[in-house]
Amino acid sequence: MKKIIVGENIVKSFGKGNEKSKVLDGVSVEINEGEFVAVMGPSGSGKSTLMFALSGTDGVDGGKVAFDGKDLSVLKDKELSDIRRTKMGFVFQQPTLLKNLNLLDNIILPSMRDNRKNAANVTEKAKSLMQKTGIAGLETRDITQVSGGQLQRAGICRALMSDPEIIFGDEPTGALNSKSAEEIMDLFSAINADGTAIMLVTHDAKVAARAERVLFMRDGQIVSEMGLSKVSGSDMEGRIKKVAEKMQEIGI
Ligand SMILES: Nc1ncnc2c1ncn2[C@@H]1O[C@H](COP(=O)(O)OP(=O)(O)OP(=O)(O)O)[C@@H](O)[C@H]1O
Ligand SMILES: [Mg+2]
Repeated sequence: MKKIIVGENIVKSFGKGNEKSKVLDGVSVEINEGEFVAVMGPSGSGKSTLMFALSGTDGVDGGKVAFDGKDLSVLKDKELSDIRRTKMGFVFQQPTLLKNLNLLDNIILPSMRDNRKNAANVTEKAKSLMQKTGIAGLETRDITQVSGGQLQRAGICRALMSDPEIIFGDEPTGALNSKSAEEIMDLFSAINADGTAIMLVTHDAKVAARAERVLFMRDGQIVSEMGLSKVSGSDMEGRIKKVAEKMQEIGI
């Protein structure tokens, strides 16, 4: 199995002098091609910091991170930004879409940079993703004229435009009601079934139960790891219970 991401003994600190604190304290993690990994842990345990480190959004102070076998720390800025733009997709709690652009333009904007000569194809692709994610018909809506769930779908479309190898999601359902959250998770499961790896930070056992592997963090370390089978064919209630029990066991 090909490893997309290999993080070895990652250390990351913030602050200076006496105030300096290790936010990641020797974290090692590997993500395989097409794998779905969830990350859980108390607030402040380092989940977002880990995601920023593994995606090359932020550098590390110790250890190393490799993407597709390339050590991120030795890449030139342009090489790193090319990898991030074309091989990784990002979805956050609040999609960072632009107010003066409609939904369709927001989705295609980042891709235009690589495909200026192919604007028609890019638009076609965006429309087909909007269809797939259930927001067809909202192309010309302003981002203030759609629901939170619809906005998140647009954020997911944007993240999928480059056919990334992996999607990083930092609490993508955190701002949604339970019905929208469920629908967005169906979408993530479908994206994963199509072969895209997913790394998803969440506080919600229902969300983590979709993953094949759950990492539990505390104080900057991975303190436990749980394997779950691929979602298809196994009962969701049982999976949620398993995750919730583990959360209780390690006090999250
Ligand atoms: N840029 C920064 N400068 C200083 N400290 C930071 C910075 N980013 C994060 N931290 C600190 O690092 C620790 C871990 O933060 P991180 O955002 O990774 O936590 P988290 O597990 O994602 O928490 P949450 O569930 O609340 O999102 C926290 O104590 C936080 O205050
Ligand atoms: Mg966070």
